[in-house]
Amino acid sequence: AHVWRGVLREYADRLGVTDSSTVVTLGEGGTPLLPAPALSRRTGADVWVKFEGMNPTGSFKDRGMTVAISRAIDHGAKAVICASTGNTSASAAAYAAHAGITAAVLVPEGKIAMGKLSQAVAHDGRLIQIRGNFDDCLEIARELADSYPVHLVNSVNPDRIEGQKTAAYEIVEQLGDAPDFHFIPVGNAGNYTAYTRGYTEEAARGISTRVPRMFGFQAAGSAPLVRGEVVKHPETIATAIRIGNPASWHLALEAREATDGYFGAVEDEKILAAQKILAAEVGVFVEPGSAASVAGLLDRAEAGVIPAGARIVLTVTGHGLKDPQWGLRLADGTQAQPTVVDASTSEVASVLDLV
Ligand code: F0G
Repeated sequence: AHVWRGVLREYADRLGVTDSSTVVTLGEGGTPLLPAPALSRRTGADVWVKFEGMNPTGSFKDRGMTVAISRAIDHGAKAVICASTGNTSASAAAYAAHAGITAAVLVPEGKIAMGKLSQAVAHDGRLIQIRGNFDDCLEIARELADSYPVHLVNSVNPDRIEGQKTAAYEIVEQLGDAPDFHFIPVGNAGNYTAYTRGYTEEAARGISTRVPRMFGFQAAGSAPLVRGEVVKHPETIATAIRIGNPASWHLALEAREATDGYFGAVEDEKILAAQKILAAEVGVFVEPGSAASVAGLLDRAEAGVIPAGARIVLTVTGHGLKDPQWGLRLADGTQAQPTVVDASTSEVASVLDLV
């Protein structure tokens, strides 16, 4: 059996890792690519789900953070900084802890999921809540990194994109070729850019026969790429992608152009419905931001633009346990009230309709 060694070692040649390179890894990458028959049935396509919630801190950010933190160490950094809607900060804090350096993390006050806040504190990140949104946090993080000896590990750092592109390598290996379409949630559009790069490299190497059409989805209240302008006050329950001024805007437009891709917006209610379908019918629990790719697929299928039998991969970017409140929410918006009975076998049997 092959033991997975993290993306830097697994893809050492592709990521320029040598024997003298620092490797800070928590074993990220090597995530499952799962068939999703319930989604195939609904759309007439051949749908697969790349479950990035299975990374060590529960999101795809770990693929980029292993590279960013390792290179920061090679540059002599003693501290890193990032702005985050929660997952980058969780990942930065964990990888910095493993490397024995400090991570300062700036997050929008009251607008990150509890699990992510918990991770930043647990890993001893220097957590600062900013009275502002993610875009404000990123501006401050960039200014601090310009003026002080702290190394920026947001996806404007190209090391992040380099690491994240490995997910596309894995998909090509797992399927034997690239899919026809790739659906992905979009915030800063760093991951959209990273997958496009990974797929493009695989096609250039002759490992795959095509580059998929890259379909990216933002929440309707935070959809600057769809609207073509900065959103000053982004809103969505999908806090991971509550971003009004994407850092990788221009790279993302290039990637869309190069892949005949698409940017779409999905309403919060559609995101929650998609999250539920994925959890209840595929067995994969993701946070709301991640379900934007699923909602996007259902939206495009309804629009009639998905050819029958097309092979489609959806990236679901973060684990549902990051933001567990949404799992307890029922379709009508009320909270689930789990049944309570006495410790009696016959009573349980009766409640379960077994008798
Ligand atoms: N999905 C999740 C779960 C995320 O946390 C993010 C971004 C995205 C999708 C969008 O990825 O920005 O590359 O387009 N989260 C960042 C953070 C902003 O701070 O954790 P993107």
